[in-house]
Amino acid sequence: MHGFYRWYRFLFFGWRVETLTMSIQTNHIEQWTTEYDQGGIPSSTRTTPSGCVVHAVGEFGRRQIPLKHAVDIGCGKGRNSLYLAGLGVDVTAMDFTPNAIHALEDKAREDKLSQKIRALVQDVTEPWPVASASMDFAIDAFCFKHITPREARLQYRTELLRVLKTHGHYLLSFASIGDGYYGRYIIDKCEVNGEEEHVVVDPENGIQSVLYTREGVLNFFHPELEVIDELQNNKPSMMHGVVYERQTYALLFQRRLRAN
Ligand SMILES: C[S@@+](CC[C@H](N)C(=O)[O-])C[C@H]1O[C@@H](n2cnc3c(N)ncnc32)[C@H](O)[C@@H]1O
Repeated sequence: MHGFYRWYRFLFFGWRVETLTMSIQTNHIEQWTTEYDQGGIPSSTRTTPSGCVVHAVGEFGRRQIPLKHAVDIGCGKGRNSLYLAGLGVDVTAMDFTPNAIHALEDKAREDKLSQKIRALVQDVTEPWPVASASMDFAIDAFCFKHITPREARLQYRTELLRVLKTHGHYLLSFASIGDGYYGRYIIDKCEVNGEEEHVVVDPENGIQSVLYTREGVLNFFHPELEVIDELQNNKPSMMHGVVYERQTYALLFQRRLRAN
């Protein structure tokens, strides 16, 4: 009887936890769907590629680093995927927000780039449908910063390290703790390995993010990824129709030699 109760409890509460996790995720996707319909943050409407992506591609060209396969993590409407595909790169573009992925598919068709872009509705905190050690370049323009549960970030990191080739590159951009917009809306602070992390909620769309320090991000990806270049961008930029002093970073990492 006791054993039966334990199993019953496990099944009942296990199911409830899974249902709760699913409904939180559905809520996030709904928030992003509305954000793309209304367009309050810069990347929701921008069609030009991120400056740091253009910079990194220039560096690869200068150093004759091959760039054939790329993954765009949390690609949104795919401004960076379209740019890379236009250069002849085969891109896997992943995002969990269906309207963003549909916009990317439409634009890829219009630009005759559908053959170069595999666009997937995919939660990047779940296993990625991407072959191991297959990617020369992984980019994440402001997606990782929106993954607030630490467990989910660890799953993301596991997948990122799995798909990158040895010596492959990873470009991550994120808003930092000094950001003039998000810095106003901190709801929680904690310290991870001696570095502060601030959780914020954007009051305009309800979307959560983490504001990191540069060192916190380096620690999180250490030792498998080593930073080789970086850009700090302190400049005024529009958020929800108002100009704020933004503070963002772009870090370019290289995958170290695999231990096994
Ligand atoms: C700020 S937007 C940036 C979009 C794009 N990278 C760009 O720069 O134009 C963040 C994107 O991350 C996506 N995202 C957030 N969490 C995600 C998750 N767990 N799985 C997949 N996509 C996610 C959102 O749907 C959104 O499209």
